Amino acid sequence: MATLAVFNPKGGVGKTSLAVNLAFEAAHAGFRTLLWEVDEQADSQWLLSETPDRPGRVPPHWVPGAVDVQTLAEPTRFDRLSLLSSDRCMRRTDNWFADMAHSQRLARLFAGLEADFDVIVLDCPPGFSDANRTIMQFVHLVVVPTIPAPLALRGLHRVRDFMVRHRGTHPPMLPVFSMLDRRRTLHRKAAAEHPDWPVIPMRSDIERMTEQRAPLGICAPNSASRHAFQNLWNGIQRKMATMRVIRSLVTGQTAAPTALPAMRRINRPRPGSPLWPAYQPDSSGA
Ligand SMILES: Nc1ncnc2c1ncn2[C@@H]1O[C@H](COP(=O)(O)OP(=O)(O)O)[C@@H](O)[C@H]1O
Ligand SMILES: [Mg+2]
Repeated sequence: MATLAVFNPKGGVGKTSLAVNLAFEAAHAGFRTLLWEVDEQADSQWLLSETPDRPGRVPPHWVPGAVDVQTLAEPTRFDRLSLLSSDRCMRRTDNWFADMAHSQRLARLFAGLEADFDVIVLDCPPGFSDANRTIMQFVHLVVVPTIPAPLALRGLHRVRDFMVRHRGTHPPMLPVFSMLDRRRTLHRKAAAEHPDWPVIPMRSDIERMTEQRAPLGICAPNSASRHAFQNLWNGIQRKMATMRVIRSLVTGQTAAPTALPAMRRINRPRPGSPLWPAYQPDSSGA
């Protein structure tokens, strides 16, 4: 089972849009996928759930760790895609993850989820919180949606330092330019400085997802925007296959490689790109 966090300490950078569409594409590619919404904004739930306004299922005598998280995951109306909208108490309790990790229950929880899911996508809240610190310690890969700006790399280094500080190392990080608007000089400049970073463009059909309440694969299946998410998922799937954390759809084994459709050039990781050597786990803290 592969665990993937969509994280940036800043809000409004496209985390939820990315998490929802990546989870949909993973499910569409044939993986049993769980989108775990950790952010108390509950935007993923708003986008995916048929009854987004119903109160969360809160166990009556909730104490950290006692809740059976598996039972809170619910199928969505999309094939193979389930949603775990952290119940209200869990959301409010920022140290829920830390408590779970401390008592070794997080490992058991994930072992339990492995029976039902191939891929878990975590839609993380903003901030350098306890929950995010714990999440960064166990995920296989972190996707960092980044607004194209001269300070983009600096923000990325802060994320990396945050992980190294708490984990001693960091998992592979994939920065993704989010909301790239090529009409803007600064955006073009930032994109030119990091030509290997995948790009999700600023598009009105992505913005309209909030109105249509469905991933782009449903509300704009043949659009360029949808293809951007699809290409990004293909790259991530390929990476996770080489890490041997994702089941091969071809053989049914947790092993690489899988036969995947060719990616568009812009999303194909190459040596030197952040997904490969430059941001491979290291313990230098540099
Ligand atoms: N690529 C994009 N193009 C246009 N609007 C976008 C794009 N990505 C996100 N948005 C919009 O930006 C706002 C913030 O996005 P969201 O995914 O909720 O960010 P976060 O989860 O980081 O707070 C939302 O209104 C969303 O519809
Ligand atoms: Mg969000």
